[in-house]
Amino acid sequence: MRHEWSSQLTFILAAVGSAVGLGNIWKFPYITGEYGGGVFILAYLFCICLIGLPIMLAEISLGRRGKQSPVNTMLQLSQEAGANPAWSLLGWSGMVAGCLILSYYSVIAGEVMAYSFRASSGMFNHQTADGIKGIYTSLVSDPEKLLAWHTIFMSLTVLSVAKGVRGGLEKTVTFLMPALLVLLIILVLYARTTGGFEQAIDFMFTPDTDKFFYARNDLGNYLMDANGDKIFTWEPMMVAMGHAFFTLSLGMGAIMMYGSYLNRHVSIGKMTLIIVSLDTLVALLAGLAIFPLVFANGLNPAAGPGLIFETLPLAFGNMTDGALIGTFFFVLLFFAALSSAISLIEPSVAWLIESKGLRRIKATVWVGTVVWFIGIGTIFSFSGTTLQDIFQPLFSWVGFEHIELSQTFSKYNFFTAIDFFTASIMLPIGGLLIAVFAGWVMHQDSTEREFSFRSRHVYPVWQFMVRYVSPFLVLMVFLNIIGIFKF
Ligand code: TRP
Repeated sequence: MRHEWSSQLTFILAAVGSAVGLGNIWKFPYITGEYGGGVFILAYLFCICLIGLPIMLAEISLGRRGKQSPVNTMLQLSQEAGANPAWSLLGWSGMVAGCLILSYYSVIAGEVMAYSFRASSGMFNHQTADGIKGIYTSLVSDPEKLLAWHTIFMSLTVLSVAKGVRGGLEKTVTFLMPALLVLLIILVLYARTTGGFEQAIDFMFTPDTDKFFYARNDLGNYLMDANGDKIFTWEPMMVAMGHAFFTLSLGMGAIMMYGSYLNRHVSIGKMTLIIVSLDTLVALLAGLAIFPLVFANGLNPAAGPGLIFETLPLAFGNMTDGALIGTFFFVLLFFAALSSAISLIEPSVAWLIESKGLRRIKATVWVGTVVWFIGIGTIFSFSGTTLQDIFQPLFSWVGFEHIELSQTFSKYNFFTAIDFFTASIMLPIGGLLIAVFAGWVMHQDSTEREFSFRSRHVYPVWQFMVRYVSPFLVLMVFLNIIGIFKF
C-alpha cells in the first residue's frame, strides 16, 4: 500500500520544509536588494496572495486526487475529466524544472555548509566588511571547493530521498524549523542595535517605483534610450512573480507530490494558509536581519547572490557568542535547504519508481547524478564564466565566428540563466496550467469533493480565483514581456 503522512501536522511540516529554504533566506533578500526594495516586496506579496494561495490549493488537491507522481497524476486526472492526455506534459516540465533548480540550489547549499564550518572556526571574528567579502570571494572563485561541497550536499539529498521521504523529513522539520525561526528573530533583534534598522525598514517598505520599473545596469545607473528617457522594464515584475512560485515550491509538482501522500479526510484550506504565512514570515524576517547590516556597514544592497554571505558573518563576528550562533544559523539553514531539495527531486524519483519499475535507491542515484552534472555549470558561473564564453566556442566550431549573444543574453551566466528560465518562466507557466486545469478542465464535483471546506463560501472564491484572477495575472505579465500589449 502507498503510505500516507502520519498526520495532518506532518503534511504541514513537510510542506513548510519544502517552502522554507534558501529561497527565503538567501534569494529573497538579494533579489529584493537588486530590484530596489519596497515596490518589489509589494509586488511579491501581491503575487503570493492572488496567485500563490489559490494555486497552492489547486496543486494540493490535484495531487491528493491523483495519488501518484505528477506525470501519472495528470494522466489519470485528464482521463477522468475526458481531457487530452497531453496535460501530463505539465508533470514532465515539472521534473525538468525541479532538476534544473536543484542543480544550482545544491551549489548554494554547499556554500552554506562551508560557512557553518567557517563560523565555528571563528574565522569571522572581528572582521571588517572587506575581510568578510574577501572570504566569500575566495570560496566562490575556487571551483574545486565548490564542487566538493556540491557533491557532499547532493549525496546527502540522495541519501535522504533514498530512505523514503517520510522518515527523515518528519524529525528534521519538527525540531529544526522552529529553531531556525527563533534564531532569525534573535538576528533581527541584533540588527536593531546596529544603527541601520530604520534605513532598512525604509528600504523594504517604502515604495520607490523608479527602481522597480526602469532598467538599470550592473552599477545601478539607469539605462537611457536615444531620447535620454529611462527604459521601462517588466523584468522585476517577472522576477517578483517567479519568486512567489519559487518560495512556495509551486508550479512544478513538488506540492502536488506531497499532496498525493495526504489522506482524504483533512481540509486543505487552513493548512495552505498556515504554510503560506510561515513562508512569508521567514522571508520578511530574513530581510529585517540582513538589510540593517547592509546599511550600517555601507554595503551595497544589490550585491547579488553573495549578499547573505557578505552580511550575516559581519554580525556573527561582532556579537557575543557569535561563533556559536553563526554555526547554529548555517547548520539550520543547511537543514532547511535539505528539506527543500528533497521536494525538488521527489517527483522525478517517484515517476521512475512508478513507471519504470526502478527501486527507490536506484532511481534516486540516477536523478541525483544527472542533477550533480548540471550543477557544475553553476560552479563555473561563480568563477566568472559567462554564457558568451560557453557559446562562442560552439558558434566558432560550426563556422559562425562572428555571432555574439545579444545584449539581453550576454549579461547572463549559466546560473542566472537557469534561475531566470526556471523560476520566472517555467514555474509561472506550470502554475498557470495547474490553475486552468483545476478551474476549467476538472469536473466541478471532483474539485468540490477534494476541498471539503467547512465554510460554503470559500469554494466559490477559490474557483473564481483559479478560473480568472490567477491565470489572468500570470498571462498579463507574460504578454507584456513579449510585447503583445503595453500597459
Ligand atoms: N521553496 C524552496 C525555497 O524557497 C525551494 C523549492 C523547493 C522549490 N521545492 C521547490 C522551488 C519546487 C520551486 C519548486 O527555498
